[in-house]
Amino acid sequence: MTAAPAFVPLPGGFGAECAGFDLSRPLDDAARTAILAAFLRHRLVVFRGQSLSADAMRGFAANFGEVEGNIFRKPDGSTLEDVHVISNLGTDGLPDEDSYIKSNYNWHTDKSYLPVPALMTLLQAIELPPSGGDTEFADMTRAHAALPEATRRRIAGLKAVHSFEYMRASTNDRPLTPAERAATPPVLHPLVRTHPETGEKSLYLGMYCSHVDGMDEAEGRELIRALQAHATSAPFVHAHVWRPGDLVFWDNRCLLHRATRGYDASRHRRVLQRAVVKGTAPR
Ligand code: OGA
Ligand code: MN
Repeated sequence: MTAAPAFVPLPGGFGAECAGFDLSRPLDDAARTAILAAFLRHRLVVFRGQSLSADAMRGFAANFGEVEGNIFRKPDGSTLEDVHVISNLGTDGLPDEDSYIKSNYNWHTDKSYLPVPALMTLLQAIELPPSGGDTEFADMTRAHAALPEATRRRIAGLKAVHSFEYMRASTNDRPLTPAERAATPPVLHPLVRTHPETGEKSLYLGMYCSHVDGMDEAEGRELIRALQAHATSAPFVHAHVWRPGDLVFWDNRCLLHRATRGYDASRHRRVLQRAVVKGTAPR
C-alpha cells in the first residue's frame, strides 16, 4: 500500500504542496481522503513531479466530481475535449504572442458564466518557458472577511450578472460565435457565495461579472471593480511559479486566478494539460 500523501502549506495564507506521491495510479481510500481534505483546507494544491496522461488526469479529477466538457471552440470550429491542452501556440504549432486564448490574463473563476460553474480546475505542466508564465491566485474568502463590516452588510444578498459575451467585449476579444452565444445566456450568481462544504463566505467576481442585478449598471460595475481591486491586492494573492512536473488544482468557489505573461510568448512555449470538475449552483 502506498503511504498517504503529506502536504506542506505554501507561504501566503493558502495553498499546499506535496512531493513524492504519484497520482497516475488509482488512489486508495487513505490517499483519496487525505487529498480531498487537503483540497478543502488549502484550496490550492500543488503536486510535484507528475506526468499524467489525459486518461490518468480524467481519472484523478473524477475523484472530485463530474469531469466537464467545454462549449469553447477551437480555431477550426471543433469543441475542446474534456481533458485538453491550453497553450500559447498558434494553429501552426509555434509560439504566438497573440494566441487563441487571451482572456485568461484577466482575473476570473472558471465557467462563472454558466448556471452551474466549475468546482475545480486542474492544470499540469507539459512545457514551460524558461521563467515567467506564473499563475496567480487570489483568496476570495479572506478578501471578503477583510471588508469593512458596513460593506459586507451592503453587499450581502446582492446578485451579479455573469456573461460570457460581456467578458469578450470588455477584454477586446473576438465576438461570440452564434453557437457560443446560444450556449451562454447571462446568469445571476450571488456576489457573496457560501462554500457548500466549508460554509465560508467568499466574494464571487471575475472577468465574467458584468453588473449588479437591480442596481444602476454603471454603479454596479463600479462596485464590482472596487471589490475586485481589493480582493486581488497583494495580501490576498499567491503566485504559482511553475516547475516541470507540477500538477496544480484549485477551488474555483473561493479563489480567483489568472495567467501572467512575464515571458516572451512569441519565442517560448507554454503548454499545460487541463481538466475541469463541475460544481453546484452558487448560493
Ligand atoms: C485556466 C486558466 C491560467 C494559466 O486554465 O482556467 O485560467 O496560467 N489558466 O494558464
Ligand atoms: Mn481559468
